[in-house]
Amino acid sequence: MRKSLFIPFISLAIILLGQVGCSHRQPEYKIGVSQCLDDAWRQKMNEEMERELLLYPNMDISHRRIAYGSNELQCAQIDSFIQERIDLLIVSPNEAEEVKPAVTRAYRAGIPVIVADRRVSGDEWTAFIGGDNYQVGVLMAEWIIKVQSETNHSLHVLEVCGLPGSTPATKRHQGLMESLAASNEAMPEIVSLQGHWMKEDAYEVVCTYLREHRNIDAIIAQNDLMAIGSAEAVRDSKGYGAGSVRIMGVDGISVGLAAIADGVIECTAAYASRGDLIIETAAAILNHQPFVRDTVLETTMIDAATARAMLMQYRERMHDIETFRIVQVNSDTRWQRMMADRKVLIAVNVLIILLFLAALAVIVFVQLKLHKKIKKEIIPQLEEVEEAIQLSKRDEAFGERMRLIVDDHLSDPNLNVEYLASKLQLSRTQIFRRVKTITGKGPLDYIRERRLVRAHHLLQTTDMTVQQVALELCFSSPGYFTKCYKDYFGHLPSER
Ligand code: FRU
Repeated sequence: MRKSLFIPFISLAIILLGQVGCSHRQPEYKIGVSQCLDDAWRQKMNEEMERELLLYPNMDISHRRIAYGSNELQCAQIDSFIQERIDLLIVSPNEAEEVKPAVTRAYRAGIPVIVADRRVSGDEWTAFIGGDNYQVGVLMAEWIIKVQSETNHSLHVLEVCGLPGSTPATKRHQGLMESLAASNEAMPEIVSLQGHWMKEDAYEVVCTYLREHRNIDAIIAQNDLMAIGSAEAVRDSKGYGAGSVRIMGVDGISVGLAAIADGVIECTAAYASRGDLIIETAAAILNHQPFVRDTVLETTMIDAATARAMLMQYRERMHDIETFRIVQVNSDTRWQRMMADRKVLIAVNVLIILLFLAALAVIVFVQLKLHKKIKKEIIPQLEEVEEAIQLSKRDEAFGERMRLIVDDHLSDPNLNVEYLASKLQLSRTQIFRRVKTITGKGPLDYIRERRLVRAHHLLQTTDMTVQQVALELCFSSPGYFTKCYKDYFGHLPSER
């Protein structure tokens, strides 16, 4: 019995306590993010993705790897994502051809792949989201032509390029060269240098060039960081005054905008990262909803006035983001507190239920024990009592019958044990036993007692003498009557 109650208790407790522990839902989709670099532009993209992810609690992008400009490392990281069985891969390949095999392996393993910013060749990927790099090159060419028309001589221009195997570097260069060739202006002299997308590399190559070559008029750097590195190189090279070399960058990240506002560089081409759109597309793919396979993001020129306006907006946005972050932290704390309260509440409920069930078990247990005891001890006792009552009732009836017979025959000299036995249809032995049980004396003593009681009554209520009474009630002699009477009543019959 105790065992059978114990099992439901424990199950109930486990279910309720399980609720305490399992209240937090795990994200459904594990997304792997493989970034080729970790510069300001990519950090902006990561932040955009994280913010957008707040709308999709079933997706998790904590699996993030950075290849730090190494194709081998990036391939190995993608392969480990495949092993970890991620649900979707977001990859920004360091160099198109070198990283393509790993991207293809992921795609062929059934993992949807979103290629962001830099492309891979072929079409073994699920979606692409990136800027219009050819158009960036066109904007560069337009700016060169504008500078050239302002200076009135054919320009000597340095082009500081990104990694040669990355598609933005090749496309931007292509856009630049083809647009310049297509224009009716005099073709400026363009010298391409390798900056690998890095500020430090750009600084080095521009310093070296300026040390060894004649004057330059302009620098077009394929990103803002290399533009700032180039500006520092110009500043640090003898013979160049501030602003004497006009510089254009690409990206429009906050440091680039600040550099424009401060007059360090002249302009930049906007190059959006759109981490938000990447996450939105990932969600559509994972939820089997329609999505755009190839998204090419627009670009536009940012000059000093636009840069200042954008910087203002950027600072406001940063303030909003910071406020949002604080709100998020506060709501997280509140949520955690609520969860803790909820756990306490559930624990208290469990305790109350357990106590209730324990009390119930004790009641049932005691009842069963009582029931057993009643069955084993009290019922037989009651039955005995009941039997005794029945017996005594029967004895009472028998006694009454016997008394009536005896009292009717007190003057009959034949009233004896045999007479009684025949009247009551019992044997002599039975008569002895029953009379003894009921009256506590033998049948003859009982008959004599009834005669003495009648004698007493007669002496009290009639004028009969002692001799007459003794005779009437069949005593053998008046003397014997007197003796019996005195023994029974304690006084002589004559003393009536
Ligand atoms: C960031 C970056 C950007 C550039 C893009 C090209 O890592 O170098 O500055 O626009 O990559 O892929």
